[in-house]
Amino acid sequence: MKALVLYDSLGGNTEKVAKRIHDTLVENDVDSRLFKVKKDEDRDLDLYEYDILILGSPVIAWGPTNPMRDFVMKKLREYHKERIRPSAPLRPGKFAVSFCTYSGTHIGEDEAIPLTKWFSSFTGHLGCRIMGEWHIVGEFHNRKDVNINGRLGDIRGRPNEQDLLNVHNRVKGMLTALSAF
Ligand SMILES: Cc1cc2nc3c(=O)[nH]c(=O)nc-3n(C[C@H](O)[C@H](O)[C@H](O)COP(=O)(O)O)c2cc1C
Repeated sequence: MKALVLYDSLGGNTEKVAKRIHDTLVENDVDSRLFKVKKDEDRDLDLYEYDILILGSPVIAWGPTNPMRDFVMKKLREYHKERIRPSAPLRPGKFAVSFCTYSGTHIGEDEAIPLTKWFSSFTGHLGCRIMGEWHIVGEFHNRKDVNINGRLGDIRGRPNEQDLLNVHNRVKGMLTALSAF
């Protein structure tokens, strides 16, 4: 099984999560590749080559980072020409997970949901079955007030080891769910 973990990260929180996802996949014998958008010149990636697409970004004003948005929109335009079909038929054996890190300062987890839904809309267009939308709390860098007084309470130091263990367990759960394929 081939997996692609494609992410962006401005301050490192989402990168920690992406690496834990990738490491867990590798530990479980999945042929996983880890890419940060732009940095790895991934714009020529063929997303249809992978069995599991795992896309993640920090939440920036309820959406992705600009490089991630540009990447997804470029791929959408490219694939609309020939590969994306009306009704987006599900492709057997093709799956996707969306994830993000977020601070939830003002309205809690509702700040994260639009982003993972946006990713899932994209991978759904590619015919993937959505296996999860994971929202992981991440501290707001250099904003101590925000990290203590937001809707999620004290989020300093997150994602912490427990958050990353939860990610590890979610990946294992997903792989168990896919073991019939
Ligand atoms: C410019 C900017 C805008 C942000 N906007 C939001 C937001 O709308 N909602 C939210 O929950 N977190 C927001 N955050 C917090 C980040 O999503 C959070 O700190 C995330 O874990 C950062 O991940 P990174 O270290 O991978 O960049 C914002 C952070 C920055 C720097």
